[in-house]
Amino acid sequence: MSNIESVLVENRVFPPSEATVKAARISGMPAYEAMCHEAERDLEGFWARLAKDNVVWTKPFTTTLNESNAPFYKWFEDGELNASANCLDKHVGTPVENKTAIIFEADDGAVTRVTYKEMLARVGQFANALKAQGIKKGDRVIIYMPMGVEGVVAMQACARIGATHSVVFGGFSAKALNERIIDAGAVAVVTANYQMRGGKELPLKSIVDEGIGMGGCDTLKTVLVYMRTATACNMVAGRDKTFAEVLEGQGSDCPPVAVNAEHPLFVLYTSGSTGKPKGVQHSTGGYLLWAKLTMDWTFDIRPDDVFWCTADIGWITGHTYVAYGPLAAGATQVIFEGIPTFPHAGRFWQMIEKHKATVFYTAPTAIRSLIKAAETDEKVHPKNWDLSSLRILGTVGEPINPEAWMWYYRNVGGERCPVVDTFWQTETGGHMITPLPGATPLVPGSCTLPLPGIMAAIVDETGKDVPNGAGGMLVVKRPWPSMIRTIWGDPERFKKSYFPEEMGGKLYLAGDGAVRDAKRGYFRITGRIDDVLNVSGHRLGTMEIESALVAKTDLVAEAAVVGRPDDLTGEAICAFVVLKRARPSGEEAKQIAADLRNWVAKEIGPIAKPKDIRFGDNLPKTRSGKIMRRLLRSIAKGEAITQDVSTLENPAILEQLAQTN
Ligand code: WTA
Repeated sequence: MSNIESVLVENRVFPPSEATVKAARISGMPAYEAMCHEAERDLEGFWARLAKDNVVWTKPFTTTLNESNAPFYKWFEDGELNASANCLDKHVGTPVENKTAIIFEADDGAVTRVTYKEMLARVGQFANALKAQGIKKGDRVIIYMPMGVEGVVAMQACARIGATHSVVFGGFSAKALNERIIDAGAVAVVTANYQMRGGKELPLKSIVDEGIGMGGCDTLKTVLVYMRTATACNMVAGRDKTFAEVLEGQGSDCPPVAVNAEHPLFVLYTSGSTGKPKGVQHSTGGYLLWAKLTMDWTFDIRPDDVFWCTADIGWITGHTYVAYGPLAAGATQVIFEGIPTFPHAGRFWQMIEKHKATVFYTAPTAIRSLIKAAETDEKVHPKNWDLSSLRILGTVGEPINPEAWMWYYRNVGGERCPVVDTFWQTETGGHMITPLPGATPLVPGSCTLPLPGIMAAIVDETGKDVPNGAGGMLVVKRPWPSMIRTIWGDPERFKKSYFPEEMGGKLYLAGDGAVRDAKRGYFRITGRIDDVLNVSGHRLGTMEIESALVAKTDLVAEAAVVGRPDDLTGEAICAFVVLKRARPSGEEAKQIAADLRNWVAKEIGPIAKPKDIRFGDNLPKTRSGKIMRRLLRSIAKGEAITQDVSTLENPAILEQLAQTN
């Protein structure tokens, strides 16, 4: 049975315990439903109330939602605030001030603690250093950093002075960095000499140098370098400075700059259906509200919680649930530099025990790989550690198969902790469809119901609602505060990608397929319906990988990339390649495939390496020359071709492509 099929027949239900319901902020289904009704009756009133209660405004807003230029919605548009002040300054003079904000565990196990007060001082000092470099409100700053306190400080410092940050995941290539610096028109890059992962020292600064060296980064003036390790790195005179150099003599007091609610807090690049990544632009007011609110709703965060989200700050999850949400909620959080399998695959469980984590949030891929590890080596099974501190578990980034859900629920949560399967996207800013731990009866593999105020629905191609049980496209019918505002520098693409005219231009199209079950109306996400792949919870565009492959002009004539299901990574990348020379076989094919994988890693990043590469004399095309991707998908899965191939120009090619090498 495939994952989707097993999800569809899933009928186990796990209601929250009475004690959990009683203690929860949103306590029981009637409380959830009351909030939904309030939002349905008066959407603006609902959000206005929450925005007043959850955000510190330096200038209160008087209008809640402006729809006059839809789909360019504006929220709280005449309000002013500062995101960093909402994460740090607001705790001054409260018990949170002296509380641990961050428990940082380095790759080698060394632990550092930073209080809220210290965090405020560090952010203030770094913000002053940015200002001294001439960086000001409205400028864009690229952050290419390892996981650690410094990365969060850099993000918060940008927010403090009104500079828009754009974090690039440390696994992306020089070329990806170059494209993002240019697209964002960044004035500075904040990076580190090296990063430590799995006991290895991996370069960051030299990749920055290489990226800038590719040319076109005319706006860039400064590179700030955190010396994570003792190893020296190349420094360009006049352009590059170490953290120590720029922080020297800077005071820790930096007044937060009040910005308009719609001011872009950050731009985060993500893959879409074309070759060019999209710069998803988020606001300050609506986004911050969401980060705070979903910490309260989805994680039911409390003063004594130790929250741990394993996501890297290079992804949206690391923005909302590492850099902003936990701080806005005044929580103590764990930040981990390393990888789950070093020095052994019990590292996560060991860290939960060590730091007494209470809320643990990770990706299904990580869970699946740790299940596999625990099945082959008893010593890394979670049962070897005391996980009794846990009270809520979460997953994000991809569908979780019921088997992995059950294992997580049993072996990590001790059948005691609700598992919140949170569906959302870079574009949505935070959780959209998710169980609430003290209300929603859980069904393995289902993200259950939308948060109050999120008008999620499933429609057909014309935008018409489909009945429960019938699959369709996931949409959101009304705007919400933390939604994407535009694609940086490309408003037309924003409209076309998310608010297609064919569907009336008013529905937010998520790009995922979904189905609601007939009994409860629970949502189940069936996967992307566009040319976006989800590999280990990382988004990659098929076109992006195809462009990378054909960029190897001396070798590759044509390439088509599709996804196929994979037990561990959710989806795996499968590339069909036509070379400019005879189709290789045997050892030669293996060698060329290895070269192409490395090439893609250099062009995009190691996460984009195709798992399978198949060579053909051609690709299956219609008479008009269109590549028939559905056939490629079947071949990638190893299925027999049962589809109609009568429109195919060259049917013989299918057999050739079906051969692996
Ligand atoms: C997928 C990550 C099923 C989905 C926060 C979405 C999920 C894409 C879930 C966004 C989930 C995310 N169940 N699928 N709980 N969460 N997805 O932008 O396909 O990196 O469109 O944001 O991940 O990925 P992104």
